[in-house]
Amino acid sequence: MRVNGIPYRTIWLDEDDRTVRIIDQTRLPHAFATVALETAEAAADAIRNMLVRGAPLVGATAAYGMALAARRDPSDQALAAAADMLLATRPTAVNLRWALERMRAILAAEAPAGRAARAYAAAAAICEDDVRTCEAIGRHGLDLFRHRWEEKGRPQRLNILTHCNAGWLATVDWGTALAPIYMAFDAGLPVHVWVDETRPRNQGASLTAWELGGHGVPHTVIADNVGGHLMQHGLVDLCIVGTDRTTARGDVCNKIGTYLKALAAHDNEVPFYVALPHSTIDWTIDDGVADITIEQRDARELTHVTGRTATGEIAEVAIVPAESPAANYAFDVTPARYVTALITERGVCAASREGLASLYSDAA
Ligand code: MRU
Repeated sequence: MRVNGIPYRTIWLDEDDRTVRIIDQTRLPHAFATVALETAEAAADAIRNMLVRGAPLVGATAAYGMALAARRDPSDQALAAAADMLLATRPTAVNLRWALERMRAILAAEAPAGRAARAYAAAAAICEDDVRTCEAIGRHGLDLFRHRWEEKGRPQRLNILTHCNAGWLATVDWGTALAPIYMAFDAGLPVHVWVDETRPRNQGASLTAWELGGHGVPHTVIADNVGGHLMQHGLVDLCIVGTDRTTARGDVCNKIGTYLKALAAHDNEVPFYVALPHSTIDWTIDDGVADITIEQRDARELTHVTGRTATGEIAEVAIVPAESPAANYAFDVTPARYVTALITERGVCAASREGLASLYSDAA
């Protein structure tokens, strides 16, 4: 996608073909800055501190983290330690484990002398795969959006609600949930997006709004609790979100608050779609509520807010009494029964074991 007219991806190599470069998402929307990653430790820090975030981009960054590790020391021992360090950065998104397992399998089959070059090629392939995958999700989602628009009698506005950021910033390019929105906008559908602010880190207000604005997509930022009210008043035609992990039976783990939106959508008969790449499916588990470890993050993300002051400085302020404890659960699980359909790179399917197996008989 473009930033000020210049095409960008979220991760790429510098001209030296070794240094990995990312966009520092913690500085958006106030500043667009890039950061160089020279070591696997720097890649792990970037994931842990959410300079990069979003399930597919976390996986891609970890893959390049392995390449940086292999450049420094391609021994089995060093690569195992790097993989463990990267895996520990964020527990919920399964793309991280998927990317590391893929990298380790590829590197194990290579003699140490060739591992660095092989690792860079494999990380680049993961990125290319992600771009193709997201583009395909966009095309399948566009068909659904067009159908919904026709079904609603071609309204002047097709109102779409999304939560968190599942746009190009969360992937290598295009995004998952936002890919169909970009394609619908480009195809001339009159889309308008309700953007949940997504407390506590405000990925919606800071990142989704920035992305959509950059592409010219009409949107309105709303507080997290507004969606139910909008749905009751017929102001949402469909919801679409991304996911950090989808179980073999179609339960969807995504940013905290997603479940409540799905409940409201169900109560108001609003379609609730989840867009995902193959790398987000965890075939090893069924029951998302019971079996997914939900990341709990630093309570400071909740008790403090960072923003730009009237004089232009970036400042952090406390919004909770200093003595009040706070709990910061980062994700929740939406049971498959509340998901209207899954939109994947292979097409659209029911959120069920049978639905996923119909598209992924090779993996399931
Ligand atoms: O904590 P984050 O910002 O990494 O959470 C991201 C999300 O919850 C996204 O919705 C999810 O990763 C899907 S991204 C395509």
